[in-house]
Amino acid sequence: MDGFAPVPRHIAFIMDGNGRWAQNRGLPRVSGHVQGAKTFRAIGNACLDRNIEVITFFAFSTENWKRPKAEIAGILKLLDLYLKDWFKEERAAHTRIHFLGDTSVFSAKERALIEKAQTTGTEIKNHLNIALNYGGRADITQAANAVLKRRFATGDDSPITEEELALHLSTQGMPDVDLLIRTGSEMRISNFLLWQSAYAELYFSDVLWPDFSEKDLDEAIRAYQTRNRRFGGLNDPGGKEPTVS
Ligand code: FPP
Repeated sequence: MDGFAPVPRHIAFIMDGNGRWAQNRGLPRVSGHVQGAKTFRAIGNACLDRNIEVITFFAFSTENWKRPKAEIAGILKLLDLYLKDWFKEERAAHTRIHFLGDTSVFSAKERALIEKAQTTGTEIKNHLNIALNYGGRADITQAANAVLKRRFATGDDSPITEEELALHLSTQGMPDVDLLIRTGSEMRISNFLLWQSAYAELYFSDVLWPDFSEKDLDEAIRAYQTRNRRFGGLNDPGGKEPTVS
């Protein structure tokens, strides 16, 4: 890793390619998710080791309900196993898990586990977001509704600001995404963190998620470090404006 260039504060992952990984081996799709869950754990830990402040994984989208019931159950089971193990991890002492998305649709047992997972840790240094039943548009919509509700309650009719809306998003108070990594060769954002990725650097990898390694992660971070982030401004804010003649 480069010693001086800053690492991203927030990395988001679209973990694509589990199904193809399994198909390539003649295995059921769920085997791809089993391997994908191992990668999720390894890459999550690798990010924490690299002092990434916030990491967000797209585990289950609002559109994933269209998949076969057995596949959905398989993904949820893997999450369940991950959370149960999480409580035994030393990292849980300084990493806070957050679930992004509408978790009200899950069973009382699943919700209890989700609730418990979000309370571990006392000296929080990092945040691990798991997007579950998540959609970027739904996130913005629920934030707008939350602001509206406050407006109705208080009679406040001032215009809504970006800062106010952002405070009601599922990522409230967290830094925006700096680096968005999607594996599995597809080049889409797929309704993930739409607001939060407004200025994210995008990194698309041909590696299928189950094969994504720490070396691949470091390559993505290095690519990020070479990008020229201008946020709509100029390279050299102190430089002279070009003269128009
Ligand atoms: C996309 O690959 C992956 C998903 C929809 C699920 C991601 C789930 C995991 C990595 C495992 C469980 C997660 C946790 C948090 C323990 P795909 O199935 O669409 O792949 P394909 O494009 O090759 O079909």
